[in-house]
Amino acid sequence: MSSSAPNAVLSVSGIGKTYAQPVLSNIDLTLLRGEVLALTGENGAGKSTLSKIIGGLVTPTTGQMLFNGRAYTPGSRTQAEELGIRMVMQELNLLPTLSVAENLFLDNLPSHGGWISRKQLRSAAIEAMAQVGLDAIDPDTLVGELGIGHQQMVEIARNLIGDCHVLILDEPTAMLTAREVEMLFDQIARLQARGVAIIYISHRLEELARVAQRIAVLRDGNLVCVEPMANYNSEQLVNLMVGRELGEHMDMGVRKIGAPALTVNGLSRGDKVLDVSFEVRAGEIFGISGLIGAGRTELLRLIYGADIADSGTVALGSPAKVADIRSPVDAVRHGIALITEDRKGEGLLLTQSISANIALGNMPAISSAGLVNGRDESALAQRQIDAMRIRSSSPDQLVSELSGGNQQKVVIGRWLERDCAVLLFDEPTRGIDVGAKFDIYALLGELTRQGKALVVVSSDLRELMLICDRIGVLSAGRLIETFERDTWTQDELLAAAFAGYQKRDALLNEAAPRNTL
Ligand SMILES: Nc1ncnc2c1ncn2[C@@H]1O[C@H](COP(=O)(O)OP(=O)(O)OP(=O)(O)O)[C@@H](O)[C@H]1O
Ligand SMILES: [Mg+2]
Repeated sequence: MSSSAPNAVLSVSGIGKTYAQPVLSNIDLTLLRGEVLALTGENGAGKSTLSKIIGGLVTPTTGQMLFNGRAYTPGSRTQAEELGIRMVMQELNLLPTLSVAENLFLDNLPSHGGWISRKQLRSAAIEAMAQVGLDAIDPDTLVGELGIGHQQMVEIARNLIGDCHVLILDEPTAMLTAREVEMLFDQIARLQARGVAIIYISHRLEELARVAQRIAVLRDGNLVCVEPMANYNSEQLVNLMVGRELGEHMDMGVRKIGAPALTVNGLSRGDKVLDVSFEVRAGEIFGISGLIGAGRTELLRLIYGADIADSGTVALGSPAKVADIRSPVDAVRHGIALITEDRKGEGLLLTQSISANIALGNMPAISSAGLVNGRDESALAQRQIDAMRIRSSSPDQLVSELSGGNQQKVVIGRWLERDCAVLLFDEPTRGIDVGAKFDIYALLGELTRQGKALVVVSSDLRELMLICDRIGVLSAGRLIETFERDTWTQDELLAAAFAGYQKRDALLNEAAPRNTL
């Protein structure tokens, strides 16, 4: 074993894990002081499982680990953390009913004679959050009130507190936009300089190429390559990861764009969404871009009736008829679907099977007189498992046992069978591997050919540029500009994303000079 390398921090040898089937076999890997190792591979390849073994959350079936030259057999996540082995998990683990500060220091609240010192807690929290650029957020805010991107930053900040020798980041940027990614990269560079060894898991190739010195690729639970990053260009990387070639371009097929299907007029709520108007035609994909907190998710929630607008209307069909939508139930009845970004909070019943979860959006198709037909339920699930290549042992497998990306496919699968004229997607390819992304794009293309109108929110500009007919940019709650396909550039889209904040600040400065961002 290569643990003899003088600067080895952690090494694993012969690590394997078997559930019903083997999911990891015979992994040998050594992590060096101050390096960033990219860990990648398709959805379900075993990345999170390997991380959880190192992080003390999962016990390996075979193999040994060494930490600083000594046998390392963590019995729990807490034990691993005490040694300075920390991980930011793919699924967030914050408590929504506690404040940001309390979440940050859950395990070691600063106390004085048993009493928690509020003042100390506040200042420690402000310091921790400043590290990830979140100093604008009041540490007393409840985590549940933050958008999911900010929650992810809190989760990262929490793991940077205290002693850290090995840091595992499992898809840390899945919900972050460019600005937050930059802040995370600054942090990574700082940690690296201090000698922290980092495992960085992501499906975003350009990020891997930027942060990592070495790359390790898992395929079906086997480590197929560990090499210097510099040995590969991006095309070769994709090849390594998915074992086939993928083009830079996506042929979305021929589609006919028809009459307006969704007309949003003057929609506003608080200071989150301000006077937003746009229309989406049948067979069209309308993208929504913007920074975290720009109001993208809030806008979709208003259309879907998950929140109630202060003013404005949502109209459907052509000629447009205003729909009275006061709840998601109303929205579904009007043929509107929302595929959420927060699969744990809103999207999925983790303790239920794949079939049950897919059936959830499709009761009429599989039931008669209120009774669910189990065979139809399985057949429905199997169809989606095949169409989206959901990696699972059977339609009866519990969703909690699926890998992150495969859970996301179940969320999407639920809505594809349903007859909705308007589908709202919030970060549909979050955590989805490069190959499977293209499968999902193809499915979106298919939906448009059926004449559906799609709204897609994504943090990935390249993705929007690949699949959309038009892209609207939200900034500080306002729809700043709408770009037509082939007339946009990445720079213009980015500039628009910041424009609303600059305008807002200029206005505020006129009224009373102060710094708001
Ligand atoms: N508790 C469990 N019981 C049964 N199978 C499991 C369990 N946890 C994970 N698996 C299986 O192990 C395999 C590897 O999952 P893992 O979460 O490690 O994948 P991953 O590489 O992180 O994928 P992704 O990119 O989608 O996050 C998957 O096929 C998954 O279904
Ligand atoms: Mg994973």
